[in-house]
Amino acid sequence: MSTTVFKRVFITGGAGFIGSHLVDRLCGNNVEVVVFDNLSSGSLENIKRWLNSSSFNFVHGDLLNPKEISDSLHGCETIFHLAANPEVRVGSKNPKVHYEQNVVATFNLLEAIRKVDDVETLIFTSSSTVYGEPDKIPTPEDYGPLKPISIYGASKLASEALITSYAHTYGFKAIIYRLANIVGSRTQHGVIYDFINKLMGNPKRLEILGDGTQTKSYSDVEDCIDAILTGASRCQGKTEIYNVGSEDQVNVKEIADIICEEMGLNNVDYVYTGGVDGGRGWKGDVKFMLLSVEKIKRLGWKPKLNSRQAVIKTVKALLRQKGIYAPKE
Ligand SMILES: NC(=O)c1ccc[n+]([C@@H]2O[C@H](COP(=O)([O-])OP(=O)(O)OC[C@H]3O[C@@H](n4cnc5c(N)ncnc54)[C@H](O)[C@@H]3O)[C@@H](O)[C@H]2O)c1
Repeated sequence: MSTTVFKRVFITGGAGFIGSHLVDRLCGNNVEVVVFDNLSSGSLENIKRWLNSSSFNFVHGDLLNPKEISDSLHGCETIFHLAANPEVRVGSKNPKVHYEQNVVATFNLLEAIRKVDDVETLIFTSSSTVYGEPDKIPTPEDYGPLKPISIYGASKLASEALITSYAHTYGFKAIIYRLANIVGSRTQHGVIYDFINKLMGNPKRLEILGDGTQTKSYSDVEDCIDAILTGASRCQGKTEIYNVGSEDQVNVKEIADIICEEMGLNNVDYVYTGGVDGGRGWKGDVKFMLLSVEKIKRLGWKPKLNSRQAVIKTVKALLRQKGIYAPKE
């Protein structure tokens, strides 16, 4: 896919997990990049190789502070909006977090965009959680009605609605990606990260939230970046939605097995919490998820790694990052 369509881009959440991989790809192709991030879950470490580059700008700003956004948005024709609180679990304890960090933050960005003339395209990372518990699996983009079961899913769906309406009303293009679980180096949340941390604390016992049969699709972050950039350079519509994920699934128990094997741990005692609502990890956890990716495949994208390969690659990367266990090759 081509990055020549971009001149100067603005990336909210560019110091986070997915955002920093996007930064690597764009900066590596000489695109001018402005990262806007409050470093709440992201870090400068993730983007340190670009901090002294003349075509890179870091703004330590918060989307909840509208003035900081408009001051740094000028001259950017493409906005990648990734900043959010991505922890689905948080919502059942404190719904306001997702309302503020995802919905209000998106609204503030849209207000800033409509007040500058420069923006041509807004690209948004939404989530598979907008589908709730669909009857149809693999789930296509035109599935409905959309009934999210988590506050996080609701906040993403609300953001999608705000984005398409602003795009229509104020005349810019919007591309929305509904991402499956994205995994890879630098991730700081999700089941792989949690299990590795728990096993580093106690290599004999692993607490597994739910009943371990939660079965979902996992996608390599490099495949995700390929998909985002493919859609950005080839999508023709004014407002388009694309699912992004791998075409198969793995369950939580299989992920635990992969991690134990890569860490060289035998006979780990798996302790299942049993979870809520029939074995879910937490209230609002979708138990089975697989997205249809036929629509984005028609633009020429296809995943290079399946779910199992993406999980193994991530485990190796995280173990290497932590420098504690040497992953078996
Ligand atoms: N990782 C996944 O599996 C996954 C799946 C579906 C959707 N997504 C979406 O992709 C995007 C990126 O997720 P990620 O996994 O890289 O998460 P992340 O937490 O690593 O990245 C989010 C970034 O946004 C920044 N941020 C948060 N609130 C902010 C605010 N108010 N102002 C400025 N910056 C702020 C954080 O500091 C962080 O750098 C999110 O929108 C998330 O909802 C992720």
